Amino acid sequence: MLNLGILISGRGSNMESILKAIKKKRIPINPAIVISNKPDADGLKIAQRLGVKTLVIESRGFKGSRWQYDRKIVEALTENGVTPLNGLVCLAGFMRIISPKFVRKYKNRILNIHPALLPAFPGLKSQKQALDYGSKYSGCTVHFVDDGVDTGPIIIQSVVKIKEDDTEETLSKRILKEEHKAYPEAVNLFARKRIKVSGLRAIIS
Ligand code: GAR
Repeated sequence: MLNLGILISGRGSNMESILKAIKKKRIPINPAIVISNKPDADGLKIAQRLGVKTLVIESRGFKGSRWQYDRKIVEALTENGVTPLNGLVCLAGFMRIISPKFVRKYKNRILNIHPALLPAFPGLKSQKQALDYGSKYSGCTVHFVDDGVDTGPIIIQSVVKIKEDDTEETLSKRILKEEHKAYPEAVNLFARKRIKVSGLRAIIS
């Protein structure tokens, strides 16, 4: 079975939705390790409660290069069986840009979730970006990670209609609900080897 590593920075609600789907035997993957770059991430407690091993690799105050930090992550993933041959890495609210070397090592084996319909509104505060732009629809995207910020072959998108009276909070809440369905589904597709990448496209069988 594949080994899953999840990287978080905070709340960890997407991580929780994936771990719960695994617990219910909906996804054939072994939840090997949850790693946070922040020691106070709430998601750490959730993972522990669900019986999943956790690790903190603090990024604050880290003196080395981006790759030197990522190398620590790669070492921890490898030690826990999440290898470029037998692993999947999910970024779940991991608020760091990962280095091209990390991406290359785990080519087409790193997923990310983003709270917008990419390629619209990458980066931070995507829900606010969509509201400020006057978009009528937004949503979420699960995609493979490449060298860009919130770019890479798209696996799943879920659309959310924007209401006239939406605020950043109300829209974020409705998008998050969709995220919690889309991310476990994308992990499931990967675990069942139903995704093929061809150029920019992720083709689902
Ligand atoms: C989620 O909304 C996720 O889409 C977003 O951070 C939140 C993390 O929440 N990620 C990004 O904006 C990545 N560019 P969570 O910790 O509860 O999963």
